[in-house]
This record gives sequence, C-alpha cells and structure tokens, in this order.
Amino acid sequence: METMELNPSIATVFKKTPLEFYLNGTRIQLSDPNPQWTLLDFIRSQHGLKGTKLGCGEGGCGACTVVIQTLDTHRERRGRVKHLAVNACLFPLIGAVGKHVITVEGIGNSENPHPLQERMAKLHGSQCGFCTPGIVMSLYALIRNSYDPVIKEFRLDESDIELEGHLDGNLCRCTGYKPILQAAKTFITEDLKGTIAVGENLKECTSSESSELSYTFDGPAKNNFSCGRPGGCCRDPPKTTDGRSPSDETSSTKLSEHSSDPGSHERSSTSESAISTPDDVEISSTSYGKPIKSNETNSSDGLAVEGTKTTTQIDTPASKIEHGIPQYDFACYSPGTELIFPAALRKFEQAPLFYGNSTHVWLRPVTLEQLLIIKDAYPSAKLVGGASEVQVEIRFKNSSFPISAYISDIEQLREIEALGKDQNMDAIGEVILGANASLTEVEAICKDLSGRLGQRGSVLEAMRKQLRYFAGRQIRNVASLAGNIATASPISDINPVLLTCGASLRAQSKARGKFKLEMSTFFTGYRTTTLPADAVITHIHIPLPPTEAREITKAYKQSKRKDDDIAIVTAAFRVRLNEDGQISEISLAYGGMAPRTVEAKSTTKSLIGKEWNSSTTLGAGMTSLAQEFDLNFEVPGGMATYRKTLAMSLFFRFWHEVISDLKLGEVDPDLINEIHRGISFGSRDNHNPHEQRVVGKQIPHLSALKQNTGEAQYVDDIPPQDRELYGAMVLSSRAHAKLIEVDWSPALGPGLAMGYVDKHSIPKEANLWGSIVKDEPFFADDIVLSHGQPIGLVYAETALQAQAAARAVKVVYEDLPAILTIDEAIKADSFFKHGKMLKKGAAIEGEMDAVWEKCDRVFEGTTRIGGQEHFYLETNAALVIPNLEDKTFEVWSSTQNTMETQEFVSKVTGVPSHRVNARVKRMGGAFGGKESRSVQLACLLAVASKKEGRPMRCMLNRDEDMMTTGQRHPIQARWKVGTTSDGKLIALEADLYDNAGFSQDMSGAVMDRCCTHLDNCYEIPNVLIRGHVCRTNTHSNTAFRGFGGPQAMFITESYMTAVAEGLGIPIDELRLRNLYKEGQLTPFLQTIDQDWHVPLLLSQISQETNYEARLASIQQFNSQHKWRKRGISMIPTKFGLSFATALHLNQAGASVKIYADGSILLHHGGTEMGQGLYTKMAQLAAQELNVPLSAIFTPDSTTYQIANASPTAASSGSDLNGMAIKDACDQLNERLAPFRAKFGPNADMKTLAHAAYLERVNLSANGFWKMPRIGYKWGNYDISTQKPMYYYFTQGVAVSEVELDVLTGSHTVLRTDIKMDIGRSINPAIDYGQIEGAFVQGLGLFTMEESLWTRDGKLATMGPGTYKIPGFSDIPQEFNVIFLQGVEWGHLRSVQSSKGVGEPPLFLGASVFFALRMAVLSARMDNGVEEPLVLDSPATPERLRLSVGDEILRKGTVVPKEAETNFFVSVA
Ligand SMILES: Cc1cc2nc3c(=O)[nH]c(=O)nc-3n(C[C@H](O)[C@H](O)[C@H](O)COP(=O)(O)OP(=O)(O)OC[C@H]3O[C@@H](n4cnc5c(N)ncnc54)[C@H](O)[C@@H]3O)c2cc1C
Ligand code: FES
Ligand code: FES
Repeated sequence: METMELNPSIATVFKKTPLEFYLNGTRIQLSDPNPQWTLLDFIRSQHGLKGTKLGCGEGGCGACTVVIQTLDTHRERRGRVKHLAVNACLFPLIGAVGKHVITVEGIGNSENPHPLQERMAKLHGSQCGFCTPGIVMSLYALIRNSYDPVIKEFRLDESDIELEGHLDGNLCRCTGYKPILQAAKTFITEDLKGTIAVGENLKECTSSESSELSYTFDGPAKNNFSCGRPGGCCRDPPKTTDGRSPSDETSSTKLSEHSSDPGSHERSSTSESAISTPDDVEISSTSYGKPIKSNETNSSDGLAVEGTKTTTQIDTPASKIEHGIPQYDFACYSPGTELIFPAALRKFEQAPLFYGNSTHVWLRPVTLEQLLIIKDAYPSAKLVGGASEVQVEIRFKNSSFPISAYISDIEQLREIEALGKDQNMDAIGEVILGANASLTEVEAICKDLSGRLGQRGSVLEAMRKQLRYFAGRQIRNVASLAGNIATASPISDINPVLLTCGASLRAQSKARGKFKLEMSTFFTGYRTTTLPADAVITHIHIPLPPTEAREITKAYKQSKRKDDDIAIVTAAFRVRLNEDGQISEISLAYGGMAPRTVEAKSTTKSLIGKEWNSSTTLGAGMTSLAQEFDLNFEVPGGMATYRKTLAMSLFFRFWHEVISDLKLGEVDPDLINEIHRGISFGSRDNHNPHEQRVVGKQIPHLSALKQNTGEAQYVDDIPPQDRELYGAMVLSSRAHAKLIEVDWSPALGPGLAMGYVDKHSIPKEANLWGSIVKDEPFFADDIVLSHGQPIGLVYAETALQAQAAARAVKVVYEDLPAILTIDEAIKADSFFKHGKMLKKGAAIEGEMDAVWEKCDRVFEGTTRIGGQEHFYLETNAALVIPNLEDKTFEVWSSTQNTMETQEFVSKVTGVPSHRVNARVKRMGGAFGGKESRSVQLACLLAVASKKEGRPMRCMLNRDEDMMTTGQRHPIQARWKVGTTSDGKLIALEADLYDNAGFSQDMSGAVMDRCCTHLDNCYEIPNVLIRGHVCRTNTHSNTAFRGFGGPQAMFITESYMTAVAEGLGIPIDELRLRNLYKEGQLTPFLQTIDQDWHVPLLLSQISQETNYEARLASIQQFNSQHKWRKRGISMIPTKFGLSFATALHLNQAGASVKIYADGSILLHHGGTEMGQGLYTKMAQLAAQELNVPLSAIFTPDSTTYQIANASPTAASSGSDLNGMAIKDACDQLNERLAPFRAKFGPNADMKTLAHAAYLERVNLSANGFWKMPRIGYKWGNYDISTQKPMYYYFTQGVAVSEVELDVLTGSHTVLRTDIKMDIGRSINPAIDYGQIEGAFVQGLGLFTMEESLWTRDGKLATMGPGTYKIPGFSDIPQEFNVIFLQGVEWGHLRSVQSSKGVGEPPLFLGASVFFALRMAVLSARMDNGVEEPLVLDSPATPERLRLSVGDEILRKGTVVPKEAETNFFVSVA
C-alpha cells in the first residue's frame, strides 16, 4: 500500500512494521490495516468475532467492551498482568500492539461457557442480548483484576460493582439491571472461592470439579513476574492442594508463543487450545429452566425422546430458593483455565513503529524523545492517548488527522510518583502525575494519598471524587489527565480542580526543552490554550498546602445522570483561613458557566479578608456570584437559571462543608452530604401455583447463553455476502427547506461511493410509505420536512467509505420556517387529519355545559410530557440480498414488522410480495421503534440492491438512528375536571395533542390509545376527549412501548393530583373514591368486567409495603429536614390489550411441522426482540404437543413461512401467536390421536411421528387465530351495539419512595414495590424481567430522558453523551416485584389465561415522578410557595431544582429579555 512520505527525522527512527498483538490467545500480525480502523473495526472484520457490538461508537454504551490484558508498568507492580475493560469503538488499533486483546468469544462459548456467562444466562441477565457481551467483559476484567497473585486471593466484595462504578460504562435498555447485578454479585459471593476483601467467605463449590482446582490461595508469590493468572502462573511456586503445579499442562492449556501460520495477519496453529475446557458441564438451554417453588409433584412423566437429539432436562428437580434468589446448579469457576498472558509478549520489544497510507499515518513512539521528534517535524500531529476525545471528534465532528501519534505506551508520560509506606508525608510539597497516566490509576493514587495526607490532601480527595463520576470505567481505564486538560472543554471535570489548587503543567518540546505552564493562565478561550503546537504536556504538578495551613479543597459536579455523564455545572473550590478564621486565600473555579473553565475572580477578591464563619460572608459570596455569572437567557447549552442557581448552591454547600471540616460550628448534615446510594437489592415472588409441565416454568430465554457468549447473531453479524456493498443515507441537515441542488459528484470515485439512489431511482408513486397513511417519501422530493430526513443513499465497498461519501454530497437548501413544538403547531393550525373523540354521559348528547354547572369545583390545567428515544442497543440494520435468477429479494431486517417490510420492499422493487422474503432472527431491542421505522432503511437498501444487482447492507450509526427513526410522542393536554366538594369526579373534558413530526406514521393510532387511557383507573360519568395530531418539522414520531398509554395515564395522575391538592384531600383517598367498580363504563363505553383487580392490588400492596406507616414517617422526616426531602407514591395502572384501533391486526398465523424424527419446527408471526417471545411460544408448543421443550426449534421469523403477520407490538405477541400455535397443535394432536391410542399416552414424539409418517399423515399444520369479542367503532355511542375496544386489561400497582437533594435537584429511588395482575404467567422469569425492564424504562421517561432541539430544528440529543437513559445506579435501591395470586380470571379468554405484560408496567415508573413531586411540594411549603405546582415530565434535576422556590433560586433566576428564547427547544 502506498504510504505518505515521512519526514527523514522520523523515517530514520520509526519503522514500518506489522502490528503485532494477541487476540484471544492467538498471535496476530497485521500488515497495512486501514488506518481509520478502531480496534472494534478490526475485531468485527474477523470471522467469528461478532460478539463485540457497536452500540454508539462514542464510548457511551459499553456494547463494544473488550479486555486488554497487559503488563503493569507501575513501579510497584511492574511485570504483573492487569486487565483493562476498554471501549473497542474508541481504542486505536495501534494501541493493541504488544498486548493481548480478549473478546467475549475468548472466554467461553455456549458449549463451554465461562461460569460468569452461564450465570448471567441462567439468572436472566440477558433479554435482547445486545448489551450482554459488553457487560460480561466489564465484569470479566473486574474479576481477573481482583485476583492478587501475591497473596493469592480475590480481593473483591459484591458491593464493589456498584460502589466503585465497575459497570458505569455499560448500558442495558431491557433488563432494568437487577438480574445482571444479581448474577454478578452471586458470582462473586459463590464462585470466587478465595477470601474476599470485605464480607463473608465464599460458599464452597459442591460439585466434583472443585477438587480438581489446580491452585490454592496461600503462599507467597515467587517473584513479581507472575503472569497474574488467577490460580497462579508457571512462575509461581508449586503449591496446590493436590500437589500438582498450577502450570501443569493437564490442568490448563498453555498459550502458544509462536505463530506458525505466516501471512499478513496470522493465527496461531494452536489457537484453539488457548482456552482449555473448564468443566465439562452440559449446558442445554433447557437444563436450568427449572421452576422455582415448583408445584410439580411427579417429575417422571418423562417425555425426553430417546434416540433423538432433542432431549431435555426439563424434568430435573426444582431449584431451591434462598433469600428470594433461585438457586441453580452452576458450573464451578475454575480460575486455572482462564486465558493466560502470552509469554511471547513478556519479551515483546517496545519499538517505535508506523503504519498507514497516503492520507493517514499512525506513529507509535515508545519514548518521550521519539514523541518530541514527531512534534518537531509535524506540530499538527494529533497526539492520541485514551482517544476518548479524538475518536469522538473523528467520528462525530468529521475531524481528520493525517498524522496521529499514539502516546499511551510512553512510560515517561505515565509515571506516577510512588510514595512508600514509610514516606514522611509532611515533607511532600506537591504531587506529580504523569500526563498520560490513566484516570483509573490517578483515581487510585488520589485515594491512597488523600487517605494518608488527611485534610492536607483534600485536593486529591476532590480529584478522586471527580474521577469517580467521570465517564465510564472503560474510558477511565484509558483516558488521561493531559487529554482532558489539552481539550480545554468548558465542562471538563478535572480542570476546575487543577485551577483552584494552583496546579501547573510541565511541558516539553524539542526546540524549547522543558518548560512550565501555569493552569491559571492556560485556558485562553473556547477550547484554546497556551500550549505551543510543537509541545507536549509531560507532567502535572499539584501543590499541597503547608502542613499547618487551614485549607480545604472540594469539588462538585451536577449532571443529568450521576454516572457517566458530562457536567451541567462542575466546580472546585479552595479556601485557606488564617488563625482568626479570615479568608487568606480563596479560589472558586467553575466549568459550565463560560466558554472555558473560569475562576470567579471578582467574588474571590471581594471575599478575601472576610471571616468565613459569618452568614454575611456567605450572603456576600452568593450575591457576588449571581452578579459575576450574569448568564444570558440564551446562553449556549441552555439552562441559564439552573446553572446560575447551581453556581450559588454549590458554593453554599462548600461554605457549610468548610465550617464542618474545620470544626467552626454545627451544620445541617443534609447540606453537606450529597445523595448517597447504597447497594441495590430486591426480590421476586417466585411462587407460581399455575405451573405445568412446561408452561409456567421459569425457563431462561432460549438464546440467553448464546447472547452471553457472543454467538447470538444480529443482522449486522451475518457474514459478508458475495459482492456485498454498504449503504449510507444522505440526510437533510435542515428542518424545513427547499432542495435547490443535490450534487452527488463529490461523493463518487475511488475510495468513496460506487453509486447512489434517490427519488429518481423509483417511480413517484412508490416513493411514499407509511403504516396507516402513505404520506412519507422514502427519498425527499424537492423539499425536506425534517432534520435527518433521507435525501438519498450512497453505497460503497466499506462502511467507512460509504459514510465518508455521504458526507461529501453537496446539498443546497433554501430554508423555510420550521414548526417544532406543539404550541407552535396549534398556533399555526398545523395538524394531520384525525378528529377522533370519546364521549360518555352528557357529552354524547352535547350537554356538558349543564354538567359543569352542577360541579362543586372545576379545575383546569395544561400538562406536558416529553417524548422518549427508544435507545435500543442495536440500531436499525438491514441486509438485502437479491437473487438475480428469480428476481427475488431476501431482506434481513431488524424489524418488528416482517409484513410491512415485505409490502414496501415489494413496492419499491416492483416485484410481488411472494418474491420478497422479509426475515428477522432477533433484534437487539426494539420497544416499538422497529415497528414501522425499520421499513425505511430496508427499502432504501432494496432500491440500491435492485439497481446494482448486489447485496446491500447498512447498520445505522447511533446519531443517524436517533435522527431518522422517531421517538415516543411528546404530548400536551389541556384539561378541565369537575368534581363534587368531597372529591367525586363528575366530568372530564380534554384536548390532547401529540407531536407527530413531519409524517403521520402511527401518530393517529397513538393518539387513539392515548384518548382511551385518559381515565387510568377512575370512573368519570361525563367525558369528552378530543385527540389532535400535530404536524411539525421534527422527525416522525412512532410507536414506543405503551403507545400513548403512559402519556395519557401521566396526564390522568397529574389532574388527579391537582384535584386532590385543590380540594385538600389526600391523593390516595381521592383515587380510592373514584376507582372503577365492576360493571362501570370506561370513556370508550367498555364495561369493567369481573376481572377488575386494581382495588385488590392497591389494598394488598398498601399492606405488604407498610404504605401508611411509611407515608407518616416521610411526612415526619420532611418536617424535620429542609434540604433533604422524601416522597412516596402509590400509583395504579390499567392497560388495554389488543391492537385497539386496527381490528385487522388482531390476527396471527403459525406453522408447526413435525419431522419424522420427532423434532418440531415452529414458526409464528411474532418477532424476538429480547422479550422472550420465542421462549414462551416454544413452551406453549411443547406443552400442547406433549414433548420436551428442546424438541421445538424456531430459527427466525420469515414471511416465506408466515404470510401477513401483524407486527409484534401492543403487548399482544403471546396472545395472538400463542393461540395460533395452539390451533396448529390442536390439529396435529387430532391427527396423532390414533397413534397415541396405539402407543400409549406417554409415547415419545419420534415413535408417533414416524408411525404417522408411514401412515401418510400430514404432520404440518398452519394455525390461525383472530381475537374474538373486540371491534370498537369510533363515533358509535350506542352502548347496546358498541363492541369492546380491548380484549382485557393488564393491571398493576407500584409504590415508590425517593429522596431529593433540594440544593441540586439530584435524587435517588430508595425503594419500589410492584404488584401486577398478569393472569397465569407462561414464564414468570421472563415476565418479571419485562416488568422490571419496563419500569426502569418508565423511570427514565418520567425523570431523566429529555430530547432537545436547537432553535433551527436540529435534534441536539443524538447519542448516549447527551441523551441519558437510566444506568445501573438509577434503579431503585430496593426493588421488589410480585404477581397477584389467589384470584380467578372469569372473563379472561387468553392463551393459558396469561396476560400481555410488555407495555403495561412502563407507566408505573411514574410512581417515582409523583414521589418526587411530593418531595418538591414539601420544599415549596418550607419556602412559602403557595401557587399550585405544575411539574411537567420528565422531572429532571433541573425541573426539580427550579420548582423548590427557595431564596437561592430567586437570586439565580434569569428572566428572558424581550424576544430571548432558550438555547434548546423541548417540543411537548
Ligand atoms: C463517553 C465519554 C464520557 C466522557 N465523560 C467525561 C466526563 O465525565 N468529564 C470530563 O471532563 N470529560 C469527559 N469526557 C471527555 C474525555 O474523556 C476526557 O477529556 C479525557 O480526559 C480525554 O483523555 P484522552 O487521553 O482520552 O484524550 P485523547 O482523546 O487521547 O486526546 C484529547 C486531546 O488531548 C491531546 N493530548 C493528549 N495527551 C496530550 C499530551 N500529553 N500533551 C498534549 N496534548 C495531549 C490530544 O492531542 C487531543 O487533542 C468523556 C468522553 C467520552 C467519550
Ligand atoms: S459502541 Fe463503544 S461504547 Fe457504545
Ligand atoms: S438485554 Fe441489555 S440491552 Fe437488551
């Protein structure tokens, strides 16, 4: 490959050599890889290594986590092996040189899983599985690092995972995290058999393998060259229980040191032996799915089929429960079988090298001197440390760096001065940190030294605190202080600390030698510094105060989410008092208040000489800060009032902390203690009285193990097809504009696109699509209506080329006015035709006026709830494979909707549906976001595929996905409620508006469901609800779990709260007074039937959670605490099941084929997105056909098997498909009846099927079912003819308790209890998972997740960096879930009497919102605020802080000047 000609001074030092490293035990030599590849790009290019996922590409989700095994260079630990979890999506490929990269495939496979993988699978830690490999690898690094080879113990406590943030860089959108934490914690307490650092000794493994463990934990290490393998390496002394050497080749297979397979990159011939077999435990997907508290008395109805491969262990004895946790039989952890550090790498020569091509070159200096030569020759060369800034710039800001130097392997830049235990700490005047030491290392040294220095080390404690909440663990493992400092971000968390303590930087260049830069003058403007272009930062000097000084330094950070989030305001303060308690030195440094990190200079000047312990000083400081940070309402980044209030609030906290630390007086602990989160725990009521032979058992997700080992295949994991091309969409960068010109020519050419398609590539009529109304162009046609709307699609040989080509297309726009918000749409009369209403009581006759007159009280209000991004971990992906012979298309798509994919691919390609096979095996989460929006990508690729006659693939980048695929609808309600004086609801009138975006998609249907849930659980005799669908220029909003229901019930609870507060009736009382009773009518005239259990659920959960007593104690708490408030809320839900307004969708088909060997192929119309549908459906089929579960196999969902399948949505997947399967099984059972009669009822399926085959019996059956009873007709108000809208209601109640930090708006959920009526569960384990996951998603909707747009209509929240979904530490600290038991369901006619559960629990997340509201209300009362509280959703820290109405807020309020608008727009 042609390479850029290098400057001679570099060419003499740096040699072009293959990149050499190990990957899962195999030696790799890589010549001339693409210089634009990250480590992830390389890994995913390898056959069989698709387990490492791309979720975001910006270090924000953890799906790409791999482990780097390398030697520690720290002086005290030199030569030991360490394991770093890193984000492969950011990690430079060159950074792998000389190291061992371990991916999820390297630690186990489904035949032979790592015990951690097995445990995660069995304990339901994986639903869609897309996040799972990353989480497994984060935990793997933790476990391996926790082994101390010197003392031979695992130093790990189960609480470390949460307290030390080991999973704070991983997101999961499905599980609600609880089962993942449970799997991880029990692995630590049960599998790591060493002495754990804190806590009890680990449980002994009882299986026979334990005696074969080839290591013990006693005895000193022989020398510090141990490879660090848990269990000991060959250099450790041979001390084992059985006398065998830990390195004995019979107990662990050694890694090959030599590659025998030459080539551009090589795999060792012994690579497969790199991992030895740990325990030969048979892992069948069914072997561990045993019920908990099984009611099965006879497990001998053995239906295992002898002689076939479809045996099952489903009838193994039931698992025990201990402390509410199912006790499974796990393979024992055998650390001696872990991958060892390749011996060849110990001898690896650290040499300078380079690789690249004519446009991009990577250099890898290994000494500072070599780096200085680079900088001297190329001052613009990009230094790359952890790459956590650089890679984001490349990927999302289109930066391109022709020369990059990877500097993290330069030891001189990573040195951290080690201070021995006997060091006189008083003699230390400063701490010197290597500029590119990893933040994890800096965090550790700060922790150590601050402990030893005591109060003098408060600056280091401040630094440690900032680092604990800095990015995620994977980033902290590689990112550096220098990277943070040199980036000069105005919201850097480190720079305020360095500024406030008077730190300085040591820099160096070839021309200038060493020189010093003071932090106080380092930042010159937005992302500019005084660092000369040819220089590098080598060290950071942090001064310590003199021993006698009375000095305190503290740091603070406020962000939307506590873990892994960038700051809104970040600050560090330092004050030194003289003997008289007066301020002799003070520094107040802030991030987030200006375009660079700044000191509040005039405030500090005014405070010098003042007595600290005086409220006048505090007041003067606050007033001065308010003046100094006189933010403009339109300040970039928005939140002017919140930022200003925070600037003062943090100083307020600091003032009190100093009083407390220097013992100047008593302070309220609530003021100085930030919200602190404990270790989470919780339970599931694992009792299932309805359990049958297969149905009702807690069988883990059938793909769980494969998901944990990385073998589960998603669309983008399908191996490359012959002559495949990659597509990239060209997206509008304007919200509303005319397309004046689209110039494709710059995108075409070598190294860029091979071609493109746009509106000219298909007939005009084929360019329109939509689920209900076909109003959205596939390709923009003369006009763009939304930022992110596709204009065309380019395709190229590789993804990187296609994406570069898409950026190169030149588009000229003529801007048009854009409508973004619901208010703007109402004002402009911009609506899609909808016009549906609900009328009940007097509204039917048009006599509402008379009703209002009769009401004692009438309340009116407006309630807003923002939208929600689906944030499934797998973005939309598709692969279209044309068959040129038959003119057919095989379309793999991450879709919930195979039928619509087929329909529209047929339309754009011009072939009939029978030539389009739309297929999906599984999705990495969907939540409604892939019900319709997935169609767009599949069709764009199909157009290109048809044009070129070649396969086309694309997986959207996270920002593309967020721009193009829409969200949950933001909704605004203008409501009026009339009541009696004692709180009986009499009338409701409401106008509901949803923000549809630029096309209709399913917005009308969402509005329909929204209208039908505006009653939640309350009877209102007279109702008039009008739905409106607003047309705006945002992306087209779509289905999202709940489909308008959660928004509606939120509005209901908001008006109920307003009524309760207005009438002075406790909200719980008001709810009880108005709860539906059996026989009453909903606003859509459906009768509440005998299965109405909400009253029972409320009374039971109230008792079970001790609600009344807790409410009283919270009220007591709030009366005694001003700065810390608590709240509790008990919220019910009723959710209607069926496709409410599209009757035709309530049908399903299934195909069941019994082969002559007794194995059974099952297809149905449902798709698997993590919700466990395939597992439940297989259980149903196994139950019906009287076979073991493993006899059933469902490979995928495909339109060639099931015609006209409804989307898997509306929580109806099990209801519809389950009944269709039952129908097919009934047919087959009838045909098999004569053979059962002949061979006996327990004859195995092989015998039956074989005999039936010989008798020429059809063993294939198509099942079909359509939902009876339902058939609501809008506009029919005649109760005698109207049919039910919903088949039944899933019901539930949640109680949540929260604590709020009044000063900042941060909160934590102390406890949540959920009780659900879900009928007779087909698989309780899966249903618990659905409930927990939905609740946490709801918690995100109502408290955290906020989409924002810039004024010109661009979506501003386009990735995990700016859009925050709940992380591990946002779930309730105590989280309990139980099912309603002991009732009969007389009206329910669903399959196995189960109920849909996917969507209903999501709304219960609102219990957190309303608990927070209670806390805020208490603070407002303390502050004398009397106006009613209107709190819109989400209750972000900003909204909460701005609602408490205290003096600080009053000082901080920024009033907009005329025509000033907020920087960001929220569109509800
Ligand atoms: C998901 C995510 C979360 C983040 N969270 C936070 C957060 O919570 N708080 C926060 O403050 N930041 C955060 N960041 C920003 C970033 O992680 C930090 O700025 C980090 O410290 C950068 O270090 P790095 O080694 O990765 O820098 P790199 O990306 O390698 O480099 C960044 C810049 O520093 C320069 N540089 C690196 N080393 C030197 C040197 N020795 N001399 C001169 N110049 C040098 C590089 O040339 C480059 O311009 C986050 C980033 C991501 C992607
Ligand atoms: S893909 Fe790397 S962190 Fe999301
Ligand atoms: S299982 Fe975690 S994202 Fe789906």
